[in-house]
Amino acid sequence: MAACAAVLAVVSSSTLAFAADDSVAGQKVFAVRCASCHGTTVGEKKIGPTVAGVFGHESGGVADFRYSPALKSAHLTWDNATLDKWLQNPSGLVRGTTMFVNVPGSADRQNLIAYLRTLSAGANAAAAPTR
Ligand code: HEC
Repeated sequence: MAACAAVLAVVSSSTLAFAADDSVAGQKVFAVRCASCHGTTVGEKKIGPTVAGVFGHESGGVADFRYSPALKSAHLTWDNATLDKWLQNPSGLVRGTTMFVNVPGSADRQNLIAYLRTLSAGANAAAAPTR
């Protein structure tokens, strides 16, 4: 019986590893495609604004980052749907934005968004008002 449960556990965890919304896989995509321009801690400034706390917040919300007028006035809330569109084609969602990077693969986008969600949980708890 114990052996049976162990086998079940292995099977279900390996299924999870291949499912969409894999934040660990998303973190790897982020390291390759996003980290050159985006920090992941509150207040970290690169070419782009930090993405700490970005999930669930309004676009253009990092106080001391100079956004394009387009993103500054877009008033989007970054959730699964808006981030998916953004990552597929930033200027298609916000015409005039200065971010030109896109992620063509749907699974990559879902994993990235899952990773961004993990950054919001901590950032919101630590420094919600400053974002
Ligand atoms: C070449 C630099 C660069 C790369 C690479 C890049 N970005 Fe950006 N990103 C930017 C810039 C610049 C902005 C601000 C755009 C504006 O003001 O119009 C931005 C904005 C954003 C925003 C909106 C932030 C906010 O506060 O509203 C998100 C979310 C985002 N990027 C996610 C990503 C993800 C995820 C990746 C990896 C696939 C990525 N970016 C890759 C430069 C980059």
